[in-house]
Amino acid sequence: MPKVKLKTVYACQNCGHQTSKWLGKCPDCNQWNSFVEEIKTGNNEPDIPFFELKSDEAIPLSEVTLDSYQRIPTQLKELDRVLGGGIVPGSLILLGGDPGIGKSTLVLQALNKLAESGVSVLYATGEESREQIKMRANRLNISSSLYVVAENSIERILNQVQKIKPDVLVVDSIQTVYLQNLESAPGSISQVRECAGKLLYLSKTQNIATLLIGHVTKEGALAGPRVLEHMVDTVLYFEGDTRQQCRILRSIKNRFGSTNEIGVFEMTGDGLIEVTNPSLFFLPERSKEVSGSTITAALEGARPFLVEIQALVSDSSLTNPRRTTLGVDNGRVALVIAVLEKILGLNLYNQDVYVNAAGGFKIMEPAADAAILAALVSSFRNKPLPHQTLILGEVGLTGEIRGVMGADIRLSEAHKLGFTHCILPKNNKKIIGSSQIKVSLVESVSDLIDALI
Ligand code: TYD
Ligand code: MG
Repeated sequence: MPKVKLKTVYACQNCGHQTSKWLGKCPDCNQWNSFVEEIKTGNNEPDIPFFELKSDEAIPLSEVTLDSYQRIPTQLKELDRVLGGGIVPGSLILLGGDPGIGKSTLVLQALNKLAESGVSVLYATGEESREQIKMRANRLNISSSLYVVAENSIERILNQVQKIKPDVLVVDSIQTVYLQNLESAPGSISQVRECAGKLLYLSKTQNIATLLIGHVTKEGALAGPRVLEHMVDTVLYFEGDTRQQCRILRSIKNRFGSTNEIGVFEMTGDGLIEVTNPSLFFLPERSKEVSGSTITAALEGARPFLVEIQALVSDSSLTNPRRTTLGVDNGRVALVIAVLEKILGLNLYNQDVYVNAAGGFKIMEPAADAAILAALVSSFRNKPLPHQTLILGEVGLTGEIRGVMGADIRLSEAHKLGFTHCILPKNNKKIIGSSQIKVSLVESVSDLIDALI
């Protein structure tokens, strides 16, 4: 046996940049403290080439056929919607999310549906034993004969792939699998990159749609994000609060569809259930005559959601009164409070302020500003807002109410759910003609308060 020469490199765990000596800050991605020493053996060249250079003849675009792009629908409508209509054969998909959010549950349910419709699928897990998967499958009432393998070694997973020849392969998770001839630990940037490279090669050359599950780091990014996100065709994030039931599947990158779509699921004791009418989900029974509550329509991608905004303003005994927000942007609430104090003369400096988007939804867009403002005033003055009224508008620093994007789809969603009246910024007035509900136009925050309270 030739003597193997050990070589040490320092690799940035964020972007994969390699140097021969340790650095405090990565010159490539500017991340601090991200270099880890990794030992490489001299013979660590992957036996399957990382990428194969393509050779292709130039032909007119009109002659290119899309036969190989026949999508495989997963039958989970919310997942298909986010993927752009189903899984594209030979595509590489990355599904990221916090631990315990339900990634494994989602893929197991999707694989079950695929197997039921005759698609050959293989679920390879490095995280759980076969028995654990079986227990989960029993809980999810999974009866199809999907193939499972509990394995950490990529080489051995590939052996199983050669045997079973699946149409769809899931690797759960990319951070727990490893290549034997690479000495760094599973989960390190070189392992993640090389393993994903092998799976990329496999999916492209054998036309196997491959779904990689990825963990999210403390900072909220996929480990080795730049490496993986560039490599794959589609990046999906599964997010939500593990203490609440709502889960949102979002597409960050999609070479085969729009990134404007989101899918909504509810986590129950029997697994994930698709939420086909999310507005109803986020709008539970509201008590009629209470102050500090109103409804706005948030836009997630191309989808409108009606969400209840709740505010509570109460006398504070603290030197620095509380400003607590849940599901809404802290900065936007601070801006709205400043406008209330300066323009409407409301004294909130000695008040605790709590603002909450009910139902676990997160609204980060400015279109909810006017609703937050109205809910705050309503709570401060202890006067309920009109019950069936939707409020839309962005609040500007001079107290103006600015127009919002997609006002028409937000209004039609409100109409579907029985709303009769909407407060709309004056800039959006051109949609009044097509609106089926009564609209009051407002130009400034004083107009808004006059119209409501
Ligand atoms: P899991 O899919 O294992 O999460 P991930 O793969 O993202 O780490 O989901 C685990 C959580 O989901 C766990 O806290 C229990 C919960 N769960 C349910 O509430 N209902 C179910 O039917 C299942 C299978 C899990
Ligand atoms: Mg899991």
